[in-house]
Amino acid sequence: MAVRFDIITIFPGMFSSAMGESIVGRAVKSGLAEINCVDLRDFTEDRYRSIDDRPYGGGPGMVFKPEPVFDAVESVLSEVEPLADGRVRKIILTPQGRRLDQPLMRELAQEERIVMLCGHYEGFDERIIEGLDFEEVSIGDYVLSGGELPAMVLVDGIVRLLPGALGHPESSSRESFENGVLDYPQYTRPPEYRGLKVPDVLLSGNHAEIEQWRRQQSLERTRERRGDLLENKELQETGQEHDKT
Ligand code: ADE
Repeated sequence: MAVRFDIITIFPGMFSSAMGESIVGRAVKSGLAEINCVDLRDFTEDRYRSIDDRPYGGGPGMVFKPEPVFDAVESVLSEVEPLADGRVRKIILTPQGRRLDQPLMRELAQEERIVMLCGHYEGFDERIIEGLDFEEVSIGDYVLSGGELPAMVLVDGIVRLLPGALGHPESSSRESFENGVLDYPQYTRPPEYRGLKVPDVLLSGNHAEIEQWRRQQSLERTRERRGDLLENKELQETGQEHDKT
């Protein structure tokens, strides 16, 4: 299954190099993912190609105008070959949105069509969000200067979950957050470097012990660094047990 991203932005040039490298670049070359960047300014009608205006009610900064955004979204939706069930996931990147995490990445990795809209300045005229039925997603509790980097974060996080995108099929299910815990420490050769040693258990060849050590390291790290993840995990697990009864 391939995924198509349509990304509406005022800076399409930001995507070409970042999305042409590494796992995303490879997925695009092999046809697993398609990334189409649309320049919002192509949908303006005045000679200044203006996409923003001052906010009603006053205040600092500028707000995205509805007309070019509606036109750009409608153009994208009419160009994309529709799926049998008509499903398109429409996302606006803003700090006000649902906070991105690995379960949301997994959910999005099931989609075949994703349209993203990258914001700037003070945000969007609210009618864009209401009228176009977009969901708002934030990549974290901080403010960036625009939605382009967050859109790239989403593309990267989604593409690497697609079957066939990573070299090893198990890679993405074993890493941090997938089981509600952080990843265990990894080592490679040499067995000793500048007096720092690889833990003996990893050199032992005993796979059961290695598994147990890794599980324990994951839990310890998570407890030390991210106690909130363990609380969520416990809640989910006890919730699941209640559901079963
Ligand atoms: N635009 C600016 N900051 C953002 C954030 N944290 N997440 C998503 N989009 C944004």
